[in-house]
Amino acid sequence: MALFELQNVSKHFGGLQVVKDLSFSVEKGEIVSLIGPNGAGKTTVLNLITGLYKPDSGKISFNGQSLAGMEVNQITRLGIARTFQNLRLFLNMSIIENVMSAAYLRTSANWFQIIARTSGYRSEEQRIRQLAEQKLAFFGERLVGYRYDQPAYSLSYANRRRLEIARAMMTEPKLLLLDEPAAGMNPKETQEVTQLIGQLRDELDLTIILIEHDMGVVGGISDRVIALDHGEKIAEGSFDAVATDPLVIEAYLGRNENMVRK
Ligand SMILES: Nc1ncnc2c1ncn2[C@@H]1O[C@H](COP(=O)(O)OP(=O)(O)OP(=O)(O)O)[C@@H](O)[C@H]1O
Ligand SMILES: [Mg+2]
Repeated sequence: MALFELQNVSKHFGGLQVVKDLSFSVEKGEIVSLIGPNGAGKTTVLNLITGLYKPDSGKISFNGQSLAGMEVNQITRLGIARTFQNLRLFLNMSIIENVMSAAYLRTSANWFQIIARTSGYRSEEQRIRQLAEQKLAFFGERLVGYRYDQPAYSLSYANRRRLEIARAMMTEPKLLLLDEPAAGMNPKETQEVTQLIGQLRDELDLTIILIEHDMGVVGGISDRVIALDHGEKIAEGSFDAVATDPLVIEAYLGRNENMVRK
């Protein structure tokens, strides 16, 4: 049984069909990339998986369980976490607080109690802080030590993307959805994030669905690639097979857009 499965899922907004009868599955431990030109429906697929949008039709299941009718928090609790293409950081909060605040799903305290540091929460705070430090340590020296108490706005764009991943890891997911983790990164940072995604899978036993425009990243770590255009799957297979598929090339050329390879 696949860990994750999307069966005949469709979604429209007004007159626009954004996802069309889309089916794919992901095995435990796989890294599967979703590619396609701007507006192809990639982020919408993540929004459907995480419960932010409800599909018009079709079925999404995780570990054999249907996600139909579940709220975002329930889906997170089942073990699915994501990062956002447009980062969702609290820029005026410190780095450690950004990561700690992502733990509210795992505590008896609510989000407000965590931020306001009520007495009921304080006893749990130490444990959550340790967990947050552990997640930040995954990124080497960059987000630790004196950095903990610096505001998120002081971070470089690449470090903000790393912080976004640390926040997602705080819910201890089994399936991690990454929406353009290398966007805005220079070639060296891109190479690092590629390596990091591999480490997340290998060291934390994660299964990963990756959206990425940088074909260096996609080719570097994907077990399988799925190409979308106008919400439809137009190709699926190895990176080499998909990247050279005439339909995929045409989809990118048709939008006057190149596949990026830094
Ligand atoms: N909430 C919404 N309401 C209306 N239209 C939407 C909504 N969300 C997405 N869309 C539309 O759905 C289409 C697919 O958008 P989506 O963000 O999924 O594309 P994408 O493949 O992630 O693109 P990009 O590579 O630019 O991030 C676009 O035409 C977009 O404008
Ligand atoms: Mg997108």
